Amino acid sequence: MYAADTMENYQYPKDFAWGASTAAYQIEGGWDADGKGLNVWDTFTHQGGDRVFKNQTGDVACGSYTLWEEDLKCIKQLGLTHYRFSISWSRLLPDGTTGFINQKGVDYYNMVIDSLLENTVVPVVTLYHFDMPQAIEDEGGWNSEKTVDTFENFARFCFKTFGNRVKLWITINEPYVVAKHSYEDGVFAPGKTNKGFGAYQAAHNMLLAHAKAWHAYNNSYKSQQKGLVSIALNSDWAEPFDPNSTKDKEATERYLAFRLGWFAKPIFVDGDYPEVMKVEVSKRSKEQGLQNSRLPEFTNEEKVMMKGTADFFCLNYYTTRMIKPCSATNEEPSYDSDMAAEGVKDPEWPVSGIEWLAVVPWGLRRLLAYIKDTCGDPAVYITENGFAQSDPPVLKDLQRWEYFEKTLAEVLKAIRLDGVNVKGYFVWSLLDNFEWTSGYNVRFGLFHIDFDRIDLPRVPYHSAAEYTKVVKMNGLSGQKA
Ligand code: BGC
Repeated sequence: MYAADTMENYQYPKDFAWGASTAAYQIEGGWDADGKGLNVWDTFTHQGGDRVFKNQTGDVACGSYTLWEEDLKCIKQLGLTHYRFSISWSRLLPDGTTGFINQKGVDYYNMVIDSLLENTVVPVVTLYHFDMPQAIEDEGGWNSEKTVDTFENFARFCFKTFGNRVKLWITINEPYVVAKHSYEDGVFAPGKTNKGFGAYQAAHNMLLAHAKAWHAYNNSYKSQQKGLVSIALNSDWAEPFDPNSTKDKEATERYLAFRLGWFAKPIFVDGDYPEVMKVEVSKRSKEQGLQNSRLPEFTNEEKVMMKGTADFFCLNYYTTRMIKPCSATNEEPSYDSDMAAEGVKDPEWPVSGIEWLAVVPWGLRRLLAYIKDTCGDPAVYITENGFAQSDPPVLKDLQRWEYFEKTLAEVLKAIRLDGVNVKGYFVWSLLDNFEWTSGYNVRFGLFHIDFDRIDLPRVPYHSAAEYTKVVKMNGLSGQKA
């Protein structure tokens, strides 16, 4: 079946999507331009307090709000077939509701979408990438049930306004990160630390919001617009620390259930949380003297509503961990003690320019096979994958390209050898940008930006030139799959 030695075998499937991804807050700047409302990252970064590297902000970032033409040049230079960006919710709807629409915001995204299409680049649009309007956060944000309907209205507005041209939609980027970092650990905006409750509640509301937005599209727009809607899920791949230890294997199952299964199982399988999550959280909640489990429950109607609400699978993959149990302390409720599993890096794995990102290309292949097996063999777009350099970076990023090349070979193996239906691959990120709590100290771009210069010039890294070749060939040169 598979012969590894002819050029044909290095090819990705016909019509494979080659892209790069960005997110509004990380690149746009223009934080108060033309009537944009505040979002939680504006507030969080303006409060200072050393929660972000050198108290940096996204006020200017890559200046993409005014420099879109420069971004477009980068996209064209790479020859991308697809470009994934996110809409700044509060640029469009300053207080998060459709009560007031900021026409300048609508104009901006119309311009982005139209110019992509004029250049035969397919826009892939994320509705929400971490930047909740502050006015909605003030009402409780993802910890409030009200946000479910507010998000659905925002999604409807976007489908109605842009859906004649946008055919690939992502409702929410990485609900795991939002739930855990923003509402449990408080390291991301809005910085809430309601341990053992906050993340579960936020995730529950995000799942419902996503499902409602999917149904809104399905019922009111799909027949005319003929697009597809999904959600972007991130997960590490996980291997037992000791493959012969039952305890490590069980911990690994818990790790995958608490990270990927938390969202993938309700959406792709049966409308409900993984069994192990329900059992563990409920058991600990009881031990902590609580009447109800801290993990919210879906009603039967909600389960039916939730199941099947993704037209394809969006995977953001960065790294892998080796898992062992960690001793759970029951006095203080927390997501971490519920999961009772700990992930460590193999010291042999190289670490890219950000401490958590150990480079493990084969982890992606295994994760893709796991998704195929456990999520009903969906069509998968890898909507983020990347490697960082720390500041100051080198333009000739040979090592970084080596990581990309190895990872792309694993994607090819997943397709050719494991039969995973991978439809596309998107580099994180098109540009060096505001890397959340790491500010501008960590660089994920295919294009370098000198943030000290007012004109914020975009200069390609070596990786950009190499990626261009892959896109053009729709394959790897000389790399055996
Ligand atoms: C996020 C991006 C982020 C990237 C690298 C993903 O979790 O979607 O916004 O920049 O990882 O940390």
